[in-house]
Amino acid sequence: MKGDIGVIGLAVMGQNLILNMNDHGFKVVAYNRTVAKVDEFLNGAAKGSNIVGATSLQNLVDQLESPRKVMLMVRAGEVVDQFIDSLVPLLDEGDIIIDGGNTNYPDTNRRVAALREKGIRFVGAGVSGGEEGARFGPSIMPGGDPEAWPHVKPIFQAIAAKTDKGEACCDWVGSEGAGHFVKMVHNGIEYGDMQLISEAYHFMKEGLGISHDEMQSIFTDWNKTELDSYLVEITADILGYRDQEGEPLVEKILDAAGQKGTGKWTGINALEHGIPLTLITDSVFARCLSSLKEQRVEAEALFDNAIQPVDGEKSEWVDALRQALLASKIISYAQGFMLIRQASEENDWSLNYGNVALMWRGGCIIRSAFLGNIRDAFETNPDLAFLGLDPYFKAILEQCLPAWRKVVAKSFEVGLPMPCMSSALTFLNGYTTARLPANMLQAQRDYFGAHTYERTDKPRGEFFHTNWTGKGGDISSTTYDV
Ligand code: 6PG
Repeated sequence: MKGDIGVIGLAVMGQNLILNMNDHGFKVVAYNRTVAKVDEFLNGAAKGSNIVGATSLQNLVDQLESPRKVMLMVRAGEVVDQFIDSLVPLLDEGDIIIDGGNTNYPDTNRRVAALREKGIRFVGAGVSGGEEGARFGPSIMPGGDPEAWPHVKPIFQAIAAKTDKGEACCDWVGSEGAGHFVKMVHNGIEYGDMQLISEAYHFMKEGLGISHDEMQSIFTDWNKTELDSYLVEITADILGYRDQEGEPLVEKILDAAGQKGTGKWTGINALEHGIPLTLITDSVFARCLSSLKEQRVEAEALFDNAIQPVDGEKSEWVDALRQALLASKIISYAQGFMLIRQASEENDWSLNYGNVALMWRGGCIIRSAFLGNIRDAFETNPDLAFLGLDPYFKAILEQCLPAWRKVVAKSFEVGLPMPCMSSALTFLNGYTTARLPANMLQAQRDYFGAHTYERTDKPRGEFFHTNWTGKGGDISSTTYDV
């Protein structure tokens, strides 16, 4: 019997995905560039399974059922192109290559088109959930050549995480790089969620002087509310973890955040498309600021700006923080979906936003109960421009607003940096303001550069220029956009 799928790359994600496929009755052929790793795997974690090894790419291809499905679980970038170049001459028309890495979606756009010319169907699949997800049920976001989907679907939907109702957290996202695009936004949202949780922890620890045991139980309690999510759950675990000296390990970890780039890509994409993705972008900058550790240490000694304690009833502040976290999270997801909508429209991907929420409902790093409500919101109204306008989310935002304002105002008063909670509030303040001061901005642009403006008493699209000083000319600048 030939293999159902070949997997190249036996690092942690590759190995666990293979074991997961094997558990679901698929015959997997495993290959790694350093072939010794194949034997190591077959004699180790894969021992006693149906998994078989390949000694070369030719040997891998020879062992696969037609149309062949080869999944790359290798480092994103050049390595993917190298494997594609080596595989293509060995494959037949109609065979499928899948890239399961964290690839930047324009690369997937390019590969789908280039391989289609050669008769090969290419799929870019976002895979989320880390080691455990890969082993027992990740969220999988496949996109690319739609002709590949019927062949890949039974495997992917079998190994993916399932919702409470048994739905697979994997569906066809769309053509070209749509799958990797959605995975990129997932990661951006992951950055935002992590930063928001970290801000709540910072407020509790530095502002309220709450102990680690108490914080652990607060996050455990929060996990039983609308905040029920994987990241809140692991935060409680992290706060409860003690090192060999019996002290919270988290306090011994250097406060300089790393990043591999997916959050940055999300921010860049938002800037390129003019979508106000403020929270995710701020969460990327928060990581950048954290990495300036030496400069911060020096500046703290130079400035009289130490964080002041927060007065008042602790339990009230903790509940206010819960509300601020929840409301900010709604804004973050709302902004993320604005970006997804923009990409869908611009690329003609016809993305189903409810399905995207369903794919994130289980298995992935941002999995949460809340995504079930997001799915409902988009199912009720697929054209929802801003998630905060859905009645369920609008009610929460309105309910949380007073406490959220209190927390953000207090953070400014006591000198606690809360870039994401405050940026979320600023966004909502702007989004719900019919008249912003951009009239002044337009006047300034016209004053110094004759950039013209539209008028409130004239139809949109008619542009006016004023000779503000009497010295400038009446010639207006061309209307072009960069
Ligand atoms: C996932 C994660 C994963 C990501 C890590 C690290 O969905 O399983 O998003 O793909 O690589 O979380 O990301 P950073 O190093 O950028 O924090």
